[in-house]
Amino acid sequence: MPVLKPGKYYWCSCGKSEKGLFCDGSHKESGKEPVMFEVTEEQDVPLCGCRKTKNPPYCDGSHEQATN
Ligand code: FES
Repeated sequence: MPVLKPGKYYWCSCGKSEKGLFCDGSHKESGKEPVMFEVTEEQDVPLCGCRKTKNPPYCDGSHEQATN
């Protein structure tokens, strides 16, 4: 979980970004779009890393059923 400073962020929903959890524009032609979220104070944000969450961009525990 990254510690993020206040600001707007774009979580990568396609898994192709070379910036890890953050969109770098690689989603073009994937049919996916990044998910914008805002951080109001510096904090450890529980972002989803497996992309199977039903509550993007946040982890909902779905990785425990992930097979990859
Ligand atoms: S690069 Fe994955 S959503 Fe933009």
